Amino acid sequence: MVVLVLLLGAVTIRAEEDSGNRGAQVFAIAGCANCHTARNGPPLAGGDPLRTPFGIFHPPNITPDPETGIGRWTYGDFVRAMREGRAPDGTPYYPAFPYTSYHRMTDADLWALWAYLRRVPPVRAPRRDHELSFPYGLRSGLHLWQWLFHDPRPFVPDPDRDGTWNRGAYLVLGPGHCAECHTPRGWFGQLDEDRLFAGNPDGPEGTKVPNITPDPEVGIGRWSVDQIVFYLRVGMRPDGDFAGGPMAKVIENGTSRLPDSDLRAIAVFLKSLPPRR
Ligand code: HEC
Ligand code: HEC
Repeated sequence: MVVLVLLLGAVTIRAEEDSGNRGAQVFAIAGCANCHTARNGPPLAGGDPLRTPFGIFHPPNITPDPETGIGRWTYGDFVRAMREGRAPDGTPYYPAFPYTSYHRMTDADLWALWAYLRRVPPVRAPRRDHELSFPYGLRSGLHLWQWLFHDPRPFVPDPDRDGTWNRGAYLVLGPGHCAECHTPRGWFGQLDEDRLFAGNPDGPEGTKVPNITPDPEVGIGRWSVDQIVFYLRVGMRPDGDFAGGPMAKVIENGTSRLPDSDLRAIAVFLKSLPPRR
């Protein structure tokens, strides 16, 4: 009997560790800290200014502080923000918050992420207004934008592909939100779906984001699966250069913390894309 109780105890602890670990991994690949944590600031209490062609965004405090953070939110509020890009009162968010990718996350991953966010120490730090150029400052325009460009449905696996490919597609298109930087944008800031992953000359912080389709000249067609895995783990390109700019953060806070099987899945998915320019 005692043995059984001990055993059950061990199993419960194991399950809790696993879900904690899952939350940490989802948090890592989703890169929430890259925007919501300021350099040398407390975790998730509001990020550094985010410079975009539409103006400057100030990513808000998402710690559980009830006044200035999201401490009063329910899990339903959180799911709505992540899938529909709406605040609890229905106000639409700017797609600078990449819900345009996060909506693909599974219920299990959203739940693990929510549990992780609830454990972050609450910090009192009021939000700052964004500084956007006309007409982007008019939030009401986002209702039309979402109607035109946002489809809040979760990821649907492709039954004609294997588990590795589907895992990679999910991580890249969903929590990893890789397309948000690696795809050029149209006039209204929407992703240009015809040129998915073909690179973006107007990337975040004025960076030029490279093409990561298998095009052999302008993309990563000459990289092997192992070389892509190594890059996402360590940040070193096949030619010996190290990743810089926003990608250095994506690797350090994100992909370097994932298991090998996930990095391999990402590489397999990228290799399967049609080459685009
Ligand atoms: C590329 C930068 C970026 C990333 C990455 C990012 N966010 Fe945000 N987030 C923003 C911006 C900018 C806003 C403000 C949007 C607005 O005002 O319309 C925001 C708003 C939010 C809000 C709404 C807060 C409120 O008080 O209304 C929540 C919740 C949120 N983000 C959670 C997350 C989570 C969780 C992650 C990781 C899964 C994440 N964000 C990743 C930029 C980002
Ligand atoms: C915040 C913007 C951003 C996000 C999100 C992002 N990247 Fe990048 N990525 C960049 C930038 C910028 C570079 C160029 C880095 C450099 O100059 O060293 C880059 C470089 C790369 C490269 C190397 C390409 C080359 O030719 O050197 C690969 C591969 C890559 N990213 C894959 C990914 C994957 C996979 C994801 C999603 C898990 C991702 N990136 C998410 C901005 C981003």
